[in-house]
Amino acid sequence: MTARTCVLTGSASGIGAATSARLAAAGYRVITVDLHDADLTADLASVAGRAAMVDGITEACGGHVDAVIACAGVAGDDPLVVRVDYFGAVATLDGCRPLLARSDTPRAVAVTSVALLQAQPDDPIIAACLDGDEDRAVAAAEGRGPAVYAAAKRALSRWVRREAPTAPWAGAGIALNAVAPGIVRTPMTAGLLADETWRHIADEAVPMPLGGHADPDDIAAVLTWMVSEDNRKMTGQVVFVDGGAHATSCPGDVWPATG
Ligand code: NAI
Repeated sequence: MTARTCVLTGSASGIGAATSARLAAAGYRVITVDLHDADLTADLASVAGRAAMVDGITEACGGHVDAVIACAGVAGDDPLVVRVDYFGAVATLDGCRPLLARSDTPRAVAVTSVALLQAQPDDPIIAACLDGDEDRAVAAAEGRGPAVYAAAKRALSRWVRREAPTAPWAGAGIALNAVAPGIVRTPMTAGLLADETWRHIADEAVPMPLGGHADPDDIAAVLTWMVSEDNRKMTGQVVFVDGGAHATSCPGDVWPATG
């Protein structure tokens, strides 16, 4: 049997590195993408970098890919977050879609965040992202502080919900989902978690009653299942892997209207 091929962005660190290891252990051929230490080095903040990534994947994959995990991201309040976490992820998923459509069992996942719950549904950053207008989204993100990350992740989650049931995705047999992690111990959060005051603020915002902060492999396990052949019917879902943070903050309904 031929090994499944998975494209993985953000593979050099944290959740991506743990996922790369899991996929390799499960017998995948992994095409890794990152700013450094990857099969393909590409800057997903730029249009040119995204195009170079898709060209590189097309050349390397041998005609099709079976899975794509868009994991690369940056935190903080710089408009760069919008470029990488939303437009970089959408370019990864959209750019690989024709290659996925040639697989018998194609699966795709975007990594968003429980922080999406902190965004206002009518945030202009979200509207500009969903319109595909990067310049407008970046302009709307200027000076917005932590709202930028929350809005970028909410926009990406809504993009997954919007696209998954459509002809190019579900119609082509491609399952498309999102994973929204809670607080994960990675280089991205190391500074935050090392500072007692900031850790307390983070834990108040994202309470994780099921065993506290996650390890990267806790998220990698779910991502690996989502892109596996065993995931036959789940699509368009935003799955919170957050130790109970979503259930704690939104206990009143199965899926509250979040916009
Ligand atoms: P990390 O900082 O350990 O790894 C992120 C990776 O993305 C790095 O290897 C980095 O080089 C790559 N990357 C950043 N900018 C890039 C660019 N312009 N082009 C290509 N690659 C780029 O972070 P971590 O924690 O593993 O995060 C992975 C994903 O999970 C991100 O999308 C993050 O927003 C998300 N996430 C993380 C949480 C956490 O608590 N660590 C919580 C919720 C979501």
